Amino acid sequence: MAIERTFSIIKPDAVKKNAIGGVTAKLEEGGLRVIASRMVRLTEAQAKAFYAVHKDRPFYGDLVKFMTEGPVVVQVLEGENAILKNREIMGATNPEKADAGTIRKLFGTNIERNAVHGSDAPETAAQEIAFFFSGADLAALAR
Ligand code: CMP
Repeated sequence: MAIERTFSIIKPDAVKKNAIGGVTAKLEEGGLRVIASRMVRLTEAQAKAFYAVHKDRPFYGDLVKFMTEGPVVVQVLEGENAILKNREIMGATNPEKADAGTIRKLFGTNIERNAVHGSDAPETAAQEIAFFFSGADLAALAR
């Protein structure tokens, strides 16, 4: 199996719940390693650009508002099959439909306030990592 990198956001709802540690513990227990991490308050322009793929969806405006309401933690995660593994650990987008023990079941509230974001494919992982972290940030962490 390949060692991959994926991108994660601990969203404003989970940060507000004081769940940065709880979320990160689930990621680590699942076999993922945090190799870069930073707390940021997204600007409206950043949130719009990050979620541009959803710009025609009815929830886009509310999503941008939510993602800018408080600080988030952006992270790069590394591990075997990290992209799929992270999605399993997060659980379904809608916390009401997420399996027991997943991050979204434990810490999410509803389909919008769902605690975490994770990349869905290798191409988006690369784009999303590059949105927040420079090559120099990551090169310094190469093992
Ligand atoms: P995320 O994995 O960050 O990707 C896009 C986000 O849009 C998603 O998590 C949810 O927070 C939000 N989202 C997706 N579908 C809906 C929906 N039907 N209604 C409201 N928000 C949604």
